[in-house]
Amino acid sequence: MNGDFLEHYFTNNSNLKSEMRKIVYENKGIVFTFWSDLGVFSKDKIDFGSRVLVETIVKEEKRNHLNILDVGCGYGFLGIVLGKLLDSSVTMIDVNLRAVHLCEKNRKENQINGNTLVSNAYENIQEKYDMIVTNPPIRAGKETVLNILLNAKNYLTPEGVLWFVIRKDQGAKSIIKNLEETYKIEILEKEKGFYVMRAKNC
Ligand SMILES: C[S@@+](CC[C@H](N)C(=O)[O-])C[C@H]1O[C@@H](n2cnc3c(N)ncnc32)[C@H](O)[C@@H]1O
Repeated sequence: MNGDFLEHYFTNNSNLKSEMRKIVYENKGIVFTFWSDLGVFSKDKIDFGSRVLVETIVKEEKRNHLNILDVGCGYGFLGIVLGKLLDSSVTMIDVNLRAVHLCEKNRKENQINGNTLVSNAYENIQEKYDMIVTNPPIRAGKETVLNILLNAKNYLTPEGVLWFVIRKDQGAKSIIKNLEETYKIEILEKEKGFYVMRAKNC
């Protein structure tokens, strides 16, 4: 678990070097900018799975003015794009301190309503949300992923929905099986092996 490739999940190491870089993303004619750095997930480009997830949600979601929770926000791609395009308020949470700092800076620069918190899964969350969105930390292990996905139920309003993306070869089907008693699950997109799923209360 301590390999360098996992650093972005587990370390809050203040000695970690900083090499800030800017990522630009455009959707519906709106240009978003994201500060990124060493030690955070997908530091050089928007993750493909996250991009497919956001683009599927924007296509499918008919509501706006939502309260959205982005779990494992990284530098804030999911929450910030959805906050703007669904005209919504977003709470973004992560265990990685550097990610939280970047995310809050990005939230302000992209002028999104909401806040960013350090939180291990839902431990600092008290409210309920109309939408929970996550590209879950697969490499943190199945227990962490299931904790995030199953407990989302406790933080959703009655009409609330959980959106997530998992690669087929990272166990999407087995995770769906684990969730089926808790949610009604639909697969809304399958692109290059990435499954985008929407889960609603049974
Ligand atoms: C696959 S990345 C997705 C990052 C971002 N949402 C994106 O789309 O680029 C998963 C994120 O979950 C965070 N994470 C890992 N374990 C967590 C936990 N127990 N609670 C909250 N966040 C966690 C990681 O730090 C990482 O930023």
